[in-house]
This record gives sequence, structure tokens and C-alpha cells, in this order.
Amino acid sequence: DSIARQRSSHDDTNKTSQLALAQHDGNSSTKSVNSLADSDNDDMRLKRQVGLFSGVTLIVGTMIGSGIFVSAGSLLANAGSPGLCLVLWAACGLYSLLGALSYCEIGTLIPKSGGELSFSVYKHIMLIDSREYIYFLEAFGKMHKFFGPILAFIFAWVTVFLINPSSVAILSLSFAKYFISPILTAIHFCPDVYLSYVIDRLLATICIGLITFVNCYSVSAATRVQNIFTVGKLTAIAIIIGGGLYYLGLGYTENLEIGFEGSASSFGQIATAFYGGLWAYSGWNNLNFITEELKDPYRNLPLAIIIAIPLTTICYVLINVSYLTVLTPEQIISSDVVAVDWGNAVLGSASFLIPLGVVVSVIGTTNGTLFAAGRVSHVVGREGQSPDFLSYIHIEKKTPVAPTLLTSLLGMLMIIPGDIGTLIDFFGFAISIFYCAAMVALVVMRFTKKDEHRPIKVPIIIPIIVMVVSAILVVAPIVAAPQVQYFYVLLFILAGLIFYVPFVYYKKRVPGMDSFTILMQKLLLVAPTTSH
Ligand code: ARG
Repeated sequence: DSIARQRSSHDDTNKTSQLALAQHDGNSSTKSVNSLADSDNDDMRLKRQVGLFSGVTLIVGTMIGSGIFVSAGSLLANAGSPGLCLVLWAACGLYSLLGALSYCEIGTLIPKSGGELSFSVYKHIMLIDSREYIYFLEAFGKMHKFFGPILAFIFAWVTVFLINPSSVAILSLSFAKYFISPILTAIHFCPDVYLSYVIDRLLATICIGLITFVNCYSVSAATRVQNIFTVGKLTAIAIIIGGGLYYLGLGYTENLEIGFEGSASSFGQIATAFYGGLWAYSGWNNLNFITEELKDPYRNLPLAIIIAIPLTTICYVLINVSYLTVLTPEQIISSDVVAVDWGNAVLGSASFLIPLGVVVSVIGTTNGTLFAAGRVSHVVGREGQSPDFLSYIHIEKKTPVAPTLLTSLLGMLMIIPGDIGTLIDFFGFAISIFYCAAMVALVVMRFTKKDEHRPIKVPIIIPIIVMVVSAILVVAPIVAAPQVQYFYVLLFILAGLIFYVPFVYYKKRVPGMDSFTILMQKLLLVAPTTSH
């Protein structure tokens, strides 16, 4: 009965999702969508309302999260010298910029709302985080009937089970560290290793739990508070940069004068340093989804990228300069909460502002990440590559409860053995594989879709550079310093292949799947959407 009701309320679903998409995207589009929803308009296509400025803030807001506050130490340790550390931060920014420009070409070549990829707006929102999945399907599917869909499947498999949960895990642990550290200082309490392990996990779990609840409870509530988060993160960043420049002006250049002395020369070490940067800059590949709403997209999309990513890069480099002005390299490397130490050294009684800003920044990013994560499996389900219930939505709240819970639970599991550093390496390794594959997809389509109109066409050397750098990033750490987490990722990809052949390719039914689906439906109150 409820399923039937669900089907008939499909129009509502459209509206809710539409609202969520727009609010998630940024402030400027909210207005238009509210009016759309109010006016009972059946044409649910998003209006082109996002201008260049909003496009830029959106990109900056997506990228800045926890990374700049937690990866600085590991980058510096791996780089070996302040000079190389700053160069690597800039290099990661350049890599992300080139990657994002390449994504412009793929994204505008395969516009998801046109032609064969057009489906209801409800599905439309589900595509936010799964563009690459479609790209892989398109690029490799045309090339090889068997291997194409496998690559797309592996992408989804790794995104759903590794990349999204590990992102949530890293973010929640960063939240815990920055949340508890000022409290511990205030009460003059220094927990031992075991106790601080427990406190961190407890706080991280609470953080994931609360954000999951909000995301399952209401699509719009999850996104409404996003503006506060953005203000929080920009404040923290402005204070750190401003303070750093001030101290620089006072002549505190001692640590910077170390220059390149002691720089790492091993490829593996530099690649591992890159992983920290990749985490801090990650999110640039989720930007394509705003094309739909961008005014004059073929001009503004690349322009927003060309402004936003260098802007973020400058911020990141300046923040590191600021850390190095106030703290010694040893202090930075040994600190879990480098921004807090910076605040304590510079701000005196106002030092609480820094952890406050960081905590707000991290919550915002966790929220956005979980929001997007819930929407991947939907598209994968449409292609018949994932269990049905993962693409169902809550019968009343219209939220993708099952995949959101799945991401959160896996994230909670990952924080048990993992610490931030290990998880970041894990994330960096896994994501490099896919950046590389996406670039291969681009180059392949230059041949398979030779004559198709490309509104944005990047010089072929750009994706090739990104491809080669990504390949080095995958191979170098394995060769130089094999870590167990890299093998987990490879094993997991292998497991995906083993799973794929019987259950996806030959469509063998997983024993007990039907009853499990029904159990899940009853437990989570989820039902298929009409277009499923
Ligand atoms: N770059 C962000 C940070 O430094 C992480 C963003 C994770 N989310 C994502 N969609 N990739 O915390």
C-alpha cells in the first residue's frame, strides 16, 4: 500500500529533490528553486541562475574542509623541507586545476540531462556524485561491451565502499580532534594514548550519527545550514592567513629560511606527500554538476574553475606559510591539531575561534559529502548494477536512507582501526586510480566520439599530464614503501571483479536477496521511485 502511495507521490519527490539539489548547490540558486516549487511548475528543469561568483564560492566551499587543518604535518614530514612542502601544496593545486579543466570537457561532452541520459528530475539529483560512473560507462562501454561496464562498476564499487566512507571517516576524526582539543586544554587534562583513542572514536561516531540523522530526516534541513558552515570555514582561514602575514611582516622568517634543505628525493615519499594534498583539494571533481544551473555554462564553468582552484591554492599555500611563520617544522609535524597550536601561539584568549571555525568547516564538508554519497547508488541501481533497495527512498522523507546509512556505517567501521593519516593515504591511493581512469576515458573518447561537438575542448596534453601524474601517484608509493592499506584497496577491487561476473554480468540472484530487500524496506521504510 505504502509503495503504491509512494508511486503516486512521485511529483512531490521531484520537488523535494529539486529543492535539495539547488540548496545544496549554493545560496544563489535557492531563491529560484523555492519559487519553482511554490509555483507548482511542472517543468522541473533547473533554471540557469548560478552566476560566475556563486560558481566560484561553490567550488571553494566544496574543496575546503578538513585537509588544510590536518594534512599539513604529514605533507611537511614527507617533503622534508619547508620549501618543498610549499611547492607540493602548490603542485597539488595545479594538478587539481588541470584535472578539473579536463572534467569540463567530459562533462559537457556527456550532458546528463539530454539524450539517452535524460530521466526524471528525481534521477537527475541522484547524478550529483556519479558523473564519473556515467563517463566510464560511456567511454569504455562503447569500446568494449564486457570490460566497459566492469570499469564503471568498479568505479561505483570503490566509491560506495571505500572512497565515500573513508572521506566520512577522515572528516569525523578531524572533527573529534579539533572539538576535544580546546576542551582538554581548558580543563588541563591530558589523556593517555588509549583514552584519547577512545574519546576520538566516540566523538567521531557521534558526529557521523548526527549528520546521518539530519540527512535521513530531511533533504532541505541537511542543506539549509550549509551557509553557516561556509562562513565558519572562511573566517578560520582568513584569521590564519591574516595572522601569518602579520607575523611575516614582523620578520618571523626563521623557519621559511630553511628553504629546501633536507628535501625528500624519493618518488614514493613525494607521492605520499601528495596524498595529503589530494585529500585537501578533493571535491574539485564533483563540480561538474553545476553546469546545469550555470548561466552561460561554457564560459562560466571553466572560468569558475580557473578562478576558484588557484584561489584555494593560494589560500592553502598562505596558510602553510602562516603555520611555518609561527610554529617550527617539528611542532607542525608532531601536532594533530596544527591550527589549534597556531591559534594558541597567536590569538591568546581568542584562540577558541580557530577550533570553532575548523569544527564548523568539517561538519559542513561531512554533511555535503554524505549528502552526495547517498545519491551514488541510485544511478548504479538504474543500470542494474547494485541491489535494488539501495536506490529506494524513504516513503515520507524522500531521502535516500539506505545508501546514506551504508556510507555512515562503513565510515564508523573505518575509524576503528584507522587514524587520520592512514585513512588519507588510503583515500589518496584509491582516488588516484580513478583520476587516472577518468583521464583515460577522456582520451579514449577523443577517438570513439571523434566527430561529436565538444563545447569545451582542452589541449590533449592536459589530461595526459594528469593521467601520467595520477599513474605515478598510484605506483610510486607501492614501489617505494608498500603499505598494507594499498593492498587492501587492490584486493577490494579484485573482490569487486569476483562479485561482478556472477551477480551483475550473469545476473545470478544473490541468495536471499529478495527477502533481504523486503526486510530492508520494512526496516527503513523505503520504496522504489516510479521511474525505477
Ligand atoms: N577537500 C575536503 C577536505 O579537505 C574533503 C572533501 C571530501 N568530499 C568530497 N566530495 N570529495 O576536507
